[in-house]
Amino acid sequence: MATLASTLCTGISYAGQVPVKRAGEVGRKKQRVVVVRAEGGGGINPEIRKNEEKVVDSVVVTELSKNITPYCRCWRSGTFPLCDGSHVKHNKANGDNVGPLLLKKQ
Ligand code: FES
Repeated sequence: MATLASTLCTGISYAGQVPVKRAGEVGRKKQRVVVVRAEGGGGINPEIRKNEEKVVDSVVVTELSKNITPYCRCWRSGTFPLCDGSHVKHNKANGDNVGPLLLKKQ
């Protein structure tokens, strides 16, 4: 059972060692678990598609129009799910270091 042992840094909690038993195993293995939570209970997404239960996007990589297409991971883009560079402002304001996921066409 997970117990909250300590907080490593802002927003990331270390849950300690958790007994894990896989199918076919006789003994019990211990596995480290890290729990990541958004600060303040407001979530990580400030305003993007809040009317949806879960924001999910999929991309067929072979159909990308550009050789490199940046996808937003900071949830601040005005063109979400594509990156519009808003992460730069967010990083400066919050001392953060988030950036896009780059999908590369081969
Ligand atoms: Fe979000 Fe660039 S705008 S990662």
